[in-house]
Amino acid sequence: MTGQFPDNADLNCRPIGVFDSGLGGLTVVKQLMQQLPGESILYFGDTARVPYGTKSPATIRNYAVEITRYLQAQGVKLIVVACNTVSSVAMDNVMLVSSVPVVGVIEPGVRAALKNSLSKRIGVIGTSATISAGKYTALLRSMDPGIRVFSQACPLFVPLVEEGWIDSEVTESVARIYLEPLVKQSIDTLILGCTHYPIIKDIIKKTIDGNIEIVDSAVQTALEVRRVILAHKLACDSGKPAEYRFYVSDFPQKFEEIAQRLLGQSLSNVRRIALDDRSR
Ligand code: DGL
Repeated sequence: MTGQFPDNADLNCRPIGVFDSGLGGLTVVKQLMQQLPGESILYFGDTARVPYGTKSPATIRNYAVEITRYLQAQGVKLIVVACNTVSSVAMDNVMLVSSVPVVGVIEPGVRAALKNSLSKRIGVIGTSATISAGKYTALLRSMDPGIRVFSQACPLFVPLVEEGWIDSEVTESVARIYLEPLVKQSIDTLILGCTHYPIIKDIIKKTIDGNIEIVDSAVQTALEVRRVILAHKLACDSGKPAEYRFYVSDFPQKFEEIAQRLLGQSLSNVRRIALDDRSR
């Protein structure tokens, strides 16, 4: 099915808009499908411009605002910024242009990490933009000034995931290089501060000490979406099956392939769209 979700649809049964620079936000979609099976989803992956994590804050902000406007024009009832990079540098911009509630990925992960950490030594991994923005460190410390945060940018992880190198030895070697310094800091909790990273969670798990708890922001974000939907009385209770649409800004083939592996279902409705085409 193409076109906008019906204009006359009950506001509550309009889709949740989810976006990321590429595939990573699908880790959040997977959790949303499990935790909120009655909710429709419109996903946008900016595959033509991925990665965001190596770009300047100004560029990331422009992309984020453009996508937010597009999703709103599609009639979404809530926007999930399923990208830590955007959540780190452009959350205020997204909220400014959005007239629907917005959920980011940072706060849910931070809360879960604080809950878990006994040693108060927490590791955070993310894109270069996320780590330089320092939002995780600031938020963790503002919630508990006794916390010590050890951060590490892992810029090669996103291209490896986008290429589908999910269980390769190369990815394992890269993970060892990035993660060993964090393990040496005796952290007891590691925040996956990029939505692409849960896709290589098995490799990350293998590389770090078995006692370190991994906080997957996708799981936490879906829990937060559920809370916001209930708080705003936005739950869809039509009883009709949820509808899922996947839009990308470049060729859909590779996205389709990896998305199917990740979500465990075949996707026939991945479409390439142009963001400035509001009529779709
Ligand atoms: N998945 C994204 C994140 O959570 C962005 C990765 C990228 O485009 O660099 O940060």
